[in-house]
Amino acid sequence: MAILIKGSELAQKIRENIKNEVSSLGIKPGIAVVIVGEDPASKVYVGRKEKATLEAGFNSIVIKLDKKITQAELEIKIDELNTDNDIHAILVQLPLPKHINSDEIIQKILPHKDVDGFHPLNVGKLWIGLQPYSVPCTPYGIIKLLEENNIQISGKHAVIIGRSNIVGKPMASLLLSRNATVTVCHSRTANLKEIASQADILVSAIGKPAFISEGFIKEGAVVIDVGINRMPDGKLTGDVDFNKVEQKAGYITPVPGGVGPMTIAMLLYNALNLCKRSGSVSK
Ligand code: GUN
Repeated sequence: MAILIKGSELAQKIRENIKNEVSSLGIKPGIAVVIVGEDPASKVYVGRKEKATLEAGFNSIVIKLDKKITQAELEIKIDELNTDNDIHAILVQLPLPKHINSDEIIQKILPHKDVDGFHPLNVGKLWIGLQPYSVPCTPYGIIKLLEENNIQISGKHAVIIGRSNIVGKPMASLLLSRNATVTVCHSRTANLKEIASQADILVSAIGKPAFISEGFIKEGAVVIDVGINRMPDGKLTGDVDFNKVEQKAGYITPVPGGVGPMTIAMLLYNALNLCKRSGSVSK
């Protein structure tokens, strides 16, 4: 039976530490979260981010924009936040409506205010081993979970299912830099089950409920479930068929209460870090 990796517990500890640090900082870290349109999942995520940033004592603003906003109007909004000295961290919730060029929007955010670590400068720094202003929150949270549970990464075969810029690619970079042998699988991968079942560490970020059954798992593997799939009955289910896989895995993250809370904790961590590096804080 697998050991449960409780993300909610570690996330709570990190959030407490950040709250304490913020209370003695002298200024409030300022974070702006931009949401465009009415995507229900995005609204839920942004609501959670707002609650967490307020609880940590941040100056938190949520900017809700109409789904018909133009590229130019959105870029002007980003520029305003870039030049606002009270805002240290900017997050534009993805996905954006189809008529908006997301890559251009991400590049518009100043790298030293990019709390997601999605700007090409931060992405590039991560890959070549330089310190980026921010490391993407979800994969960074996964690394913290592995470290907290004393799970060895070096020399292990890590298989990542999903190649997004938000999770899969930065996850690959973070594991590679910690000396894992990394395989990145995706929707066109042939023999997915065969590759996954060779993993010492399996990270699934595909968005297919209960897709990963015990046949994908090597005995004793560490299974990290990034999937957050809303079922017709309203319940959340991960990518992993938890009840079957926990019999075979060595470690497993639950959904909910695994990776999700860590994403929020690392957002606070990144935002505080950007504030401290901004020069607004007296050293
Ligand atoms: N949409 C899903 N995950 C994320 C994330 O980590 N950051 C942003 N900006 N949008 C997302």
